[in-house]
Amino acid sequence: MRTDAPLVLQLAPIGSLADQGLREEFAAVRLWEQADAEAWLAAHGAEVTCVATSVRRGCDAALIAALPALRAISSWGVGFETIAMDAAHARGIQVANTPDVLDDCVADLAWALMLAAARRIGAADRYVRDGHWRALGEFPLSTRVSGKRLGVLGLGRIGAAIARRGQGFAMEVRYHGRAPRPDTSYGFEPSLMALAEWSDFLIVACPGGPQTRHLVSASVLEALGPRGILVNIARGSVVDQAALIRMLEEGRLGGAGLDVLEGEPGAPAALRTCDDVVLTPHVGSATRETREAMERLVLDNLHAFLRTGRVLTPVR
Ligand code: 8YV
Repeated sequence: MRTDAPLVLQLAPIGSLADQGLREEFAAVRLWEQADAEAWLAAHGAEVTCVATSVRRGCDAALIAALPALRAISSWGVGFETIAMDAAHARGIQVANTPDVLDDCVADLAWALMLAAARRIGAADRYVRDGHWRALGEFPLSTRVSGKRLGVLGLGRIGAAIARRGQGFAMEVRYHGRAPRPDTSYGFEPSLMALAEWSDFLIVACPGGPQTRHLVSASVLEALGPRGILVNIARGSVVDQAALIRMLEEGRLGGAGLDVLEGEPGAPAALRTCDDVVLTPHVGSATRETREAMERLVLDNLHAFLRTGRVLTPVR
């Protein structure tokens, strides 16, 4: 390793492509492999200019404080709620995430969950496997998707990719977010309650973190109603999960498709045993193609920063 090369500190494993690239292209130091991480930081923290991490591992304010020469954080994942953005910005540290490259796969999964929840694909699959088709006859009727009303909470890049797919299903799309977007013709609902009341399907696609915690509250679910279906591909924290479970148990919500949960990994028994719910284990971006692109972007952000002083995809 060249002693004058910028020191890149990797906080946790990211994926085989990124891990290999960090090792070969940057000779990154792997913090979790140090016998005593605290001692390593005390001895070498002042030499670190770049950090590679992931939304799973994050980078907190204490670690940023232990790295006084830090100038860039390249993080895997579009979410950044685990990165101390205020501490980074206060020091002028650039933070890069991996947006854009995952939009289509996350939007595809949102649609898969919406279709699966509406058409009861999970329950229907179990019906065939368990031999009920032959024994009990026709499977109960489900809910139409095409031509219905699609509400999107958070019309960012992923939300917009979800909304675009609505055209192929002849759905009217409306959205709610912090402000109306001037570059779209979808209807803006100034309140989430109004959006939920209007929607047949409500898809959660906004960022996580304290600002959006339990935004989808008991009253929002009530407004979505006994025929409404909730889909969450964002963060478990956005939905009041206790209220969601209560609504499902009392038949006050039609169903849900959930890729993310409060308290993940794992799901509470009340959701695992509910036939009106379809569950996936936080796999929105988890295709080979997209994960490869995300990992490559972690490396490319570091290369760009070291070459030009700017990361390619700063968090915004
Ligand atoms: C990952 C994500 O699937 O990018 C993000 O913020 O949530 C997803 O791409 C997730 O972090 C897996 O744990």
